[in-house]
Amino acid sequence: MEKHAVVVGALGVIGRYIAEHLAGQGDWRVTGLSRRGRTEGPRYRHVAVDLLDPADVRTKLAALDDVTHVFYAAFQSSAGAASGYAANIAPNRDMLANAVTAIDRASRRLRRVVLVTGTKYYGVHLGPLKTPMREDDPRHLPPNYYFDQIDWLAAYRQGKPWDRVELRPQTLCGFAPGTAMSILPAIAVYASIAKELGLPLRFPGRPRAWDSIYQVTDSAHFARAALWAATEPGCADQAFNITNGDYFRWRHLWPRIAAVFDMPVGEPQAISLTRHMAELAPLWQAMTVKYGLQRIPWPDLVAWPFADYVFGAEWDVMSDVTRSRLYGFHDVVDSEAMFARLLRRFREERIVP
Ligand SMILES: NC(=O)c1ccc[n+]([C@@H]2O[C@H](COP(=O)([O-])OP(=O)(O)OC[C@H]3O[C@@H](n4cnc5c(N)ncnc54)[C@H](OP(=O)(O)O)[C@@H]3O)[C@@H](O)[C@H]2O)c1
Repeated sequence: MEKHAVVVGALGVIGRYIAEHLAGQGDWRVTGLSRRGRTEGPRYRHVAVDLLDPADVRTKLAALDDVTHVFYAAFQSSAGAASGYAANIAPNRDMLANAVTAIDRASRRLRRVVLVTGTKYYGVHLGPLKTPMREDDPRHLPPNYYFDQIDWLAAYRQGKPWDRVELRPQTLCGFAPGTAMSILPAIAVYASIAKELGLPLRFPGRPRAWDSIYQVTDSAHFARAALWAATEPGCADQAFNITNGDYFRWRHLWPRIAAVFDMPVGEPQAISLTRHMAELAPLWQAMTVKYGLQRIPWPDLVAWPFADYVFGAEWDVMSDVTRSRLYGFHDVVDSEAMFARLLRRFREERIVP
């Protein structure tokens, strides 16, 4: 029977890929939600709604009476943009509650809600921690808006005919203009500007980050995992780490990235990209014209604070993905090859020269 998914946050670096993957399956219809609009397709319709406005949500979602699955990947950052900040709790808990409550009331066919959280569940953003991170590791000291989202959903789901799954990815690799958290465009633009200035590709992160173990999640891979988690009966009420399944050190990856841009590798030099790159926006404007690049507004193209966050992890970041394998999801992605492939595509699509 045809399934109807609501992808909440359908323009994000996660939601965009889930929506496209499901719409391409043949037996799914997809309704995407976000404040901005989006072009619709044969199996995709879009509802522009502000999830923080309960009346707007009730009105616009009331007609969704045959929804079978919710994929929740919305995010709204308060000032500071870190999930550890207490200020992030209210908007992100309320957006989830408003969306799920409205869909639960509208549709009797609802079977599962897939909630996207992340490795900040373990406190990966706070400092060195126990690795590998396992799903049953105890929570860190709050605040953390994931805890509030998980607890709200677990309580609301009691007595309902549907269940829930939680997925915990790390540093998504995809492209979604306007996202606050995306590493690929940051690397691509940083490398292109350094090349334009005749400089080698220097790692701009913290000194110990260069040698620490890191991991990422290909957005397309995550979409495949989300489909699996939504439809595998055994996943009910479980949490799963979802990463590419391998690990790397920036030290070893950096030459592969430099090769994509035909650049030599330089010695690492720690800088704040947030402060530095702001000064280079005019150069980027000039490069956009010179190389005939896509006209993506600079603030929508790259979120430099997220790049500083990723390159600032001076400790090992490793998730254990054994549980998802034991439950039946066996896909893996070669992260070094993925970076090269996706960055090459950025050049081909004229996002960077
Ligand atoms: N990105 C990563 O590397 C990463 C890694 C691990 C975990 N996560 C987690 O994954 C979740 C999703 O993050 P993301 O990175 O995919 O976020 P994102 O790329 O910033 O996307 C957020 C989505 O939420 C929508 N949204 C925000 N406020 C809204 C509102 N008031 N009403 C309706 N829609 C709204 C946005 O669209 P509009 O702006 O059009 O409203 C967008 O579609 C977060 O909990 C995040 O912590 C992300």
